[in-house]
Amino acid sequence: MQTQMTLEAMKVLKANDRGGFTIPTPALYPYQWNWDSAFASLGFAAFDHDRAWLELETLFEAQWADGMVPHIVFRRNDPEYFPGPAIWQSGTSPATSGHSQPAVAASVVWKLVRNGDRTDAKRAARLFPKLHAFSKWFHDMRDPDGTGLVGIIHPWESGRDNCPDWDLAMDRVKVSDKLAPYKRRDTTHVDPQERPSTQQYDKFLTIIEFGRECGWDHREIARNGPFFMGDPGVQFILMRADRDLLLLAQLLGEREHASEIEGWIARSAQGCQQLWDAKIGCFCARDLKTGDFSGGISSASMLAFYAGAGTAEQRRQLAAHAAGILKTVRYGMPSWDPRHEKFEAKRYWRGPVWAVMNYMIAEGMAEHGEKDLAAHIKADTLALIEKSGFCEYFDPLTGAGLGGGQFTWTAAIQLAWSSKTSTSRAA
Ligand code: DGY
Repeated sequence: MQTQMTLEAMKVLKANDRGGFTIPTPALYPYQWNWDSAFASLGFAAFDHDRAWLELETLFEAQWADGMVPHIVFRRNDPEYFPGPAIWQSGTSPATSGHSQPAVAASVVWKLVRNGDRTDAKRAARLFPKLHAFSKWFHDMRDPDGTGLVGIIHPWESGRDNCPDWDLAMDRVKVSDKLAPYKRRDTTHVDPQERPSTQQYDKFLTIIEFGRECGWDHREIARNGPFFMGDPGVQFILMRADRDLLLLAQLLGEREHASEIEGWIARSAQGCQQLWDAKIGCFCARDLKTGDFSGGISSASMLAFYAGAGTAEQRRQLAAHAAGILKTVRYGMPSWDPRHEKFEAKRYWRGPVWAVMNYMIAEGMAEHGEKDLAAHIKADTLALIEKSGFCEYFDPLTGAGLGGGQFTWTAAIQLAWSSKTSTSRAA
């Protein structure tokens, strides 16, 4: 039986559907975003498999020739959003942004196939080369030296835009003196206290300027751009995507691809150890230009479980950190360690709770025997939605809803967790 919340969640997805693709929320994010769409697909899968596939198929229509799936697809110009296509100048059709976002898509496809029938396998077979090219792009372009650790060239590529994880590298970005005056639109839709600062925006735009000026040459950007950091979020989500892509390759009889993917998996398992900060006893973000660690624990650190990364002892230490953090807040999992001086309960990725992160963290923890932690995180997420609705993110201390409202991916997680075919084993 569908609960009231599930029916409400379906309404959110339908209201944000723009005909084959879903926007995250009206006004604040009026285009198709990469990982938002992957989660939208997961939500649609609870009540409309065909629509779930379509979401991913439209996303991959915007894939670049080199395999990159951009983080935003601009199908039309919308003055409600800044920075739009004129700033990015991707030179592609449709116009897009110039970098990517966490590669969640392959893992959603694997769930669709696992819960589906022969039609799903056929659609997966059509999408497989594109998913493969997307993973390959990350390994080639974001790990130019083949170390097994991918980097990100912009905080937006992590999807965790203003997390303290990026502060040390952002401190070194010198704002371009060529930056034209601009008008932010996000702060007209959402309280500026819940959004990144102006100084951060100047730097976000400076990094875009470098990409635009080199014609989005991704080798050049990774080697000589103003920002290049290792991100536990992007790394662990890619590791999970590769594992799911391998299962897909095996199912589809893609032998050659399967052995290539096995190579990526083995290399990443080693490479991710570069993110282990022995001082804290945790996987943390790391500046790949200087080798410095971010110095704190984020919710992305907890995705090691989802990736199946690290040793049993490392995961034991992570579970202890998770338990400590959950004791400090009313609702977990905060995006930044609340015991750290940089924690801000309301500011975007510097503290608030995000349902999609919780979904992946709980799934990984449940798979690795951390059933109590997984159940705790799942229960907190559903309680937040019940209390404050389908908000973009939530205050971990009070449970207040923050950012955009009627948010696609928050509704999608409600649907994924209440669906009969839900693949999460979190209690
Ligand atoms: C934004 O505009 O805030 C987005 O997060 C960038 O992708």
